[in-house]
Amino acid sequence: MTVPLISPSILSADFARLGEEVRAIDEAGADWVHVDVMDGHFVPNITIGPAVVKALRPHSAKPFDVHLMISPVDSYLEAFAEAGADIITVHPEAGPHVYRTVQTIKNLGKKAGISLNPATPAKMLDYLIDEIDLVLVMSVNPGFGGQSFISSQLRKIEAVRKMIEKSGRDIRLEVDGGVDGITAPLCVAAGADVLVAGSATFRGGASQYAANIETLKGLR
Ligand code: DX5
Ligand code: ZN
Repeated sequence: MTVPLISPSILSADFARLGEEVRAIDEAGADWVHVDVMDGHFVPNITIGPAVVKALRPHSAKPFDVHLMISPVDSYLEAFAEAGADIITVHPEAGPHVYRTVQTIKNLGKKAGISLNPATPAKMLDYLIDEIDLVLVMSVNPGFGGQSFISSQLRKIEAVRKMIEKSGRDIRLEVDGGVDGITAPLCVAAGADVLVAGSATFRGGASQYAANIETLKGLR
């Protein structure tokens, strides 16, 4: 089976020591660093902004996978790009013209991702699939870490995998929410190749990060 890339969500890290935490997951084998940006408006939680992304940038050379849960989103794309995001993922519901949002991200020289909420159908990608670099299937309602995996999203992962194959393009399929040692292999079997994991990466403290990441990759 495919060994997935792991993108730990720093939402579950110790916010008082974020730089150290990013270094620790990098050294523990994380492939990407997942940054959850929330505005208290698009989702019911407030997290971090471009200044924190910029401050964290020197702590790892791994790709920064920035998941924007903010609305409106367009006016912040440049700030996150300049702060050091490599991949910028947006929700189609977060602005009136998602196609334009994707074009803006690409014009900033960054990879563009589209995130699908649990009730958002895969079909939403029909006219975006030829433009994007990543699809992020949300397997929880966005807003908080530590929620339970919504299993109906496995069908969506399968549907998106088919769309990606059909497009013939190099598009990553990432899953976010409730991913742990039990649900990770289900996501990979359904067609995912990148797994976001917050609680399942950071549990047990820094001495466990490498083992946690290996478990998520299915290597132990
Ligand atoms: C939820 C975030 C997720 C979340 C994942 O809105 O997008 O990235 O932090 O956390 P876990 O892995 O704990 O479900
Ligand atoms: Zn996320």
